[in-house]
Amino acid sequence: MSIATDETLLELKGLRTHFFTDEAEIKAVNGVDLTIRRGRTLCVVGESGCGKSMTARSILRLIDPPGRIVGGEVLLHREGREGEPGTTVDVAAMGHRDRGIRQVRGRDIAMVFQEPMASLSLVHRVGNQIGEAIRVHMRMSKKEARGRAVDLLGQVGIPDPERLIDAYPFQLSGGMRQRVMIAMALSCEPRVLIADEPTTALDVTTQAQIIDLLTGLQEQRGMGIMFITHDMGVVAELADDVAVMYLGSVVEKGPVDEIFHDPKHPYTRALLDSIPRLGSGGRGRLTTIRGSVPDPANQPTGCVFGDRCEEFMAGRCDRITPPPIAIGPDRQVRCLLYEGTETVTGSMPGQEAPDAR
Ligand SMILES: Nc1ncnc2c1ncn2[C@@H]1O[C@H](COP(=O)(O)OP(=O)(O)OP(=O)(O)O)[C@@H](O)[C@H]1O
Ligand SMILES: [Mg+2]
Repeated sequence: MSIATDETLLELKGLRTHFFTDEAEIKAVNGVDLTIRRGRTLCVVGESGCGKSMTARSILRLIDPPGRIVGGEVLLHREGREGEPGTTVDVAAMGHRDRGIRQVRGRDIAMVFQEPMASLSLVHRVGNQIGEAIRVHMRMSKKEARGRAVDLLGQVGIPDPERLIDAYPFQLSGGMRQRVMIAMALSCEPRVLIADEPTTALDVTTQAQIIDLLTGLQEQRGMGIMFITHDMGVVAELADDVAVMYLGSVVEKGPVDEIFHDPKHPYTRALLDSIPRLGSGGRGRLTTIRGSVPDPANQPTGCVFGDRCEEFMAGRCDRITPPPIAIGPDRQVRCLLYEGTETVTGSMPGQEAPDAR
């Protein structure tokens, strides 16, 4: 059962995060627009180095020098209390160490990383780590926080939570640690959960369990989820919406069915072609696209995908940076093949933009 809604929780508008090294200014996130809605999962896909993690980390202001946000907005829409109207804050404009950003982290938006050991402390018991997160944000006593931590561990499928709450992270399996991370992320009931490849380090069975867990929790709580992955199999299972990133830009985005059945951007088509067909084994790592992602320090002029594109138009694609072109409701593509085909107020049945290929 999907509880997808149109209520917007988080909007990235023209987000730019650059790294300033001695040699170059690296545009890791180069004008990203994304929307996360209540009860829906947005999957962000793309090859290694295309800026998925830096986009996610920018949202929570977790970019370390020499990187920083140099432009754009991260608009967080908060619910109003007791009939009051909601409010909107721009997280990108907050001070790096402000109280504001500490409230956002965990309370409004929580994040789960690929490697749970990177975010769990080795020397503290699981329960104390979850309890601490709860106490910081929810102002509970130690005892109340412990009770809530036990509940949460039960909810994320940890057997015998009363006992495991006193374990150290190194005593748990990879899958259990990731469940603990999810429990910690959920402890303050965030409206948005960002998961950066949370299942990549796990075996296939555990991966499937964690994905089922997230789907179930979303149904109960209506969280908006941004899920970063390389794995198109996971996208097919989990996504309501998909954003395809390449070299710091979102080159195509739209509802999952449309992206899978009618991909428009040559990069999206190449990504989908690179998935092993059903029955051929493997989980679809992206390996077979001609060429490789260019060095982000040397951004090509024109289209970022130009030098790998099968449909490259000399004199155009190497000169003009494609703007986002709306080709349907909630559907955008950055590719000059679709210039002049944009829908103005969303397409009606029978009035689809002509295919410009
Ligand atoms: N500390 C740094 N200094 C310079 N550049 C950096 C630094 N960290 C990240 N980058 C740049 O940011 C780009 C985007 O990195 P990011 O981690 O977001 O990629 P990703 O899409 O998450 O890749 P992966 O799938 O491998 O996790 C990198 O290609 C790199 O050029
Ligand atoms: Mg990453």
